[in-house]
Amino acid sequence: MDLQRLIRSNKISRRSLLLATGSMASVAITNQVISYPKYQDYPFTLGVASGDPSPNSVVLWTRLAPNPTLGVSMPPINVPVQWQVAKDKKMGQIIATGEVIATPELAHSVRVVVNRLEPNSWYWYQFKTGNQISAIGRTRTLPSLNSNVEKLAFAFVSCQNYEHGYFNAYSHLAAEELDFVIHLGDYIYESPNNPKKARPRKHPSKEAKDLDSYRQFYSLYKSDRDLQAAHAAFPFICIWDDHEVDNDYADLESQDFDRPDDFLLRRAAAYQAYYEHLPLPPFSRPKKEKMQLYRSFNWGNLASFYLLDNRQYRSDQPCDNNGKGGGQLVIECQERFDRDRTLFGIKQEKWLFEGLDRSNTIWNVIAQQGLVAQLKQKLNNKTAYWSDGWDAYPVARQRILNFIEENKIDNPIFIGGDIHSFWVTDLKSDFNAPNSNTVATEFVGTSISSNGISYQRVLPLLKDNPHVKYFESRLRGYAKCLVDRNKWLTDLRAVNTVKYPRSTIKTLASFVVENGRVGARQI
Ligand SMILES: [Fe+2]
Repeated sequence: MDLQRLIRSNKISRRSLLLATGSMASVAITNQVISYPKYQDYPFTLGVASGDPSPNSVVLWTRLAPNPTLGVSMPPINVPVQWQVAKDKKMGQIIATGEVIATPELAHSVRVVVNRLEPNSWYWYQFKTGNQISAIGRTRTLPSLNSNVEKLAFAFVSCQNYEHGYFNAYSHLAAEELDFVIHLGDYIYESPNNPKKARPRKHPSKEAKDLDSYRQFYSLYKSDRDLQAAHAAFPFICIWDDHEVDNDYADLESQDFDRPDDFLLRRAAAYQAYYEHLPLPPFSRPKKEKMQLYRSFNWGNLASFYLLDNRQYRSDQPCDNNGKGGGQLVIECQERFDRDRTLFGIKQEKWLFEGLDRSNTIWNVIAQQGLVAQLKQKLNNKTAYWSDGWDAYPVARQRILNFIEENKIDNPIFIGGDIHSFWVTDLKSDFNAPNSNTVATEFVGTSISSNGISYQRVLPLLKDNPHVKYFESRLRGYAKCLVDRNKWLTDLRAVNTVKYPRSTIKTLASFVVENGRVGARQI
């Protein structure tokens, strides 16, 4: 007997309910809690994840989704989920347990903040509901604030278009020895590509525009085994870019010029789905169509990380009054230099400056979405810039670089993604004066699977942009950083293919930054 017939025949019992698959949004029994659910289908199909560690806590995540091809596949009832944390990978030495209620309001996603953990320690965790248990995930806490830590290993990733290829990079990343992973955005891509083009994998056929369709995209992405392996291996610290909502959106301006009121609703649905599917801290839960995402954390006294949100508060793209929405190559215009234009909003910028000012760590890492360095281009023989990147916000960029230079912020490093290519650059106090000071070091990681930008088109631009030390757009992968008190090493790691679900991996290039000396040197 299926759930709807059970409900109609009034035979629901608190103690036993067969949880059928299929969306049952019309069934109004939301507040019923099923103590001992029985499942026809395995509910942990989206894996487990952890994120946002502190010295004594970490966020654990899973979601009940018996049928991952649907946006929602649980009946609309509250379901208890038990969790446990252990000191060993066989879950023998349990040190914490608890129960939370997975609710239909959050698509039966489960978020647990486990407190009272030891600093700088590894843990394993697992969920259970009814007679079903999840995979085991591994996570860790941060070292104590200001403690003397000798080293850190982490990777940063971005841009994982499911249609463009397999997440092979994640299967290699899961085997690395890392403390955590930073995801810089484009966790999903919200729209299907041209159906006439052959692609390794398929998106849902319609662009995501409401909560159910965003949930459907996340369900598809999170059912990927390589992505699940990476999440189960390390805590992730995640920020978003545009495709979690809409290509190249800027605050309430959508790519297709939707009415701001309509786009606000769409954006709110996208933000909620993002929150539901990632191991974000509870303070990020969307409120009044907004979501608090920018935040910081420290790795002892070795490194501070500032994670920025460059979509929710940014000014509209400049110099593009031509009826076309979204990013494009635009000829220089005065609007680009408007002092009121912002990439992060005044409040977030102030928060960043206060954090950098207070910092007493050796390295200061600004994690954000794009290529910070200027990339001067040409359109109809005139100087042109990409209207959706930092080049469209030169005043905001200059303010941030000036702040770093004037306040002598120690060892500033920018990490970014977004443009599906590896870059290593010197961030200059004046990009048009090659001999001006280098203010910060920049590393941009390539995409996990999204198609690269054109190598042939970008290569000739490099002579006009001498602060670029390395560029490669033909390969997919991630960046791995090994940091100690004397030096920072970034390995640019690339897989040979994303067209097939198996690949090799190699280090394309390695760059070192020495403590006290800004700028990367290839080794
Ligand atoms: Fe992307």
